[in-house]
Amino acid sequence: MRAVVLGTAAGGGVPQWNCACGPCSAVRAGELPARTQDALAVTGDGVGWWLVNTSPDVGAQLAATPALAPGPGPRDTPVRGVLLTDAELDHTLGLAVLRNAPGLRVHAPEAVLHALMPTREVLATYGEWSWRPVEPERPFVLDGGLEVTAFPVSGKRPRYAAASSAPDPWVVAYRFRDPATGGALLYAPCLASWPPGFDALVAEADVVLLDGTFHAPSEMGAATGRSSGQAAMGHLPIAHSLPRLAAHPTTRRIYTHLNNTNPVLDPASPEHAEVTGAGAEVVPDGTVIEL
Ligand code: MLT
Ligand code: MN
Ligand code: ZN
Repeated sequence: MRAVVLGTAAGGGVPQWNCACGPCSAVRAGELPARTQDALAVTGDGVGWWLVNTSPDVGAQLAATPALAPGPGPRDTPVRGVLLTDAELDHTLGLAVLRNAPGLRVHAPEAVLHALMPTREVLATYGEWSWRPVEPERPFVLDGGLEVTAFPVSGKRPRYAAASSAPDPWVVAYRFRDPATGGALLYAPCLASWPPGFDALVAEADVVLLDGTFHAPSEMGAATGRSSGQAAMGHLPIAHSLPRLAAHPTTRRIYTHLNNTNPVLDPASPEHAEVTGAGAEVVPDGTVIEL
């Protein structure tokens, strides 16, 4: 299996267009690397690739990744389709960017497919795609040979679907397993809490990429001047997940979906030192993982 970490930022990216916070300003000043919104590309055979989440940054992410370049025919693409962990806009707006490719397959939890109905109706006028519900803990095989399993991790639904009556799960983590090598990668960019059973998933994975939106629960409130009560907004802060990850020293542990308020973005920060000191990592966009 080969995976490319296409993007590592939370909704808005770093820098976010309307944000003058410390890290966003540091990126504009050339002092920190820019980060696009979180997404992963995975392949089992190096020929057929799958995108996990698609933000509006997907065009730039594809352009920055030679293995995902179109060809050999004028409209051929190695991209077979998309897996969605949830229905948030930063994970789904990129579907519209991909509209020129007929025949893509989109796998997502039933609630997510339901929330995307308006988008699906728009996209159906551009070409025929297939939309497949993923069933929790039911492995299936992707074109290219990877076995994928979805694990429910939370009921967090996007603001635009707040009134939806669709049942959980709204958010899943995906485990990708290469039957040829036995390698396993767990992708969990949206965790509201440490879900039951998650320790076993981390323990049996070679690599886990998980929600690193905020370092501290109060971070969003501090950055925006809002009260800190609802501040963590359904994202388990690093301060709470890092001690849990410490129990799994043999798994490579990488934080992604980093919000632009997060002090770990700065390699010189004490928070970054705390992450690396505990054996976890913050990696740049474009990082390649071979398993
Ligand atoms: C989230 O991860 O909580 C959402 O993507 C926030 C957003 O971008 O609207
Ligand atoms: Mn998000
Ligand atoms: Zn910012």
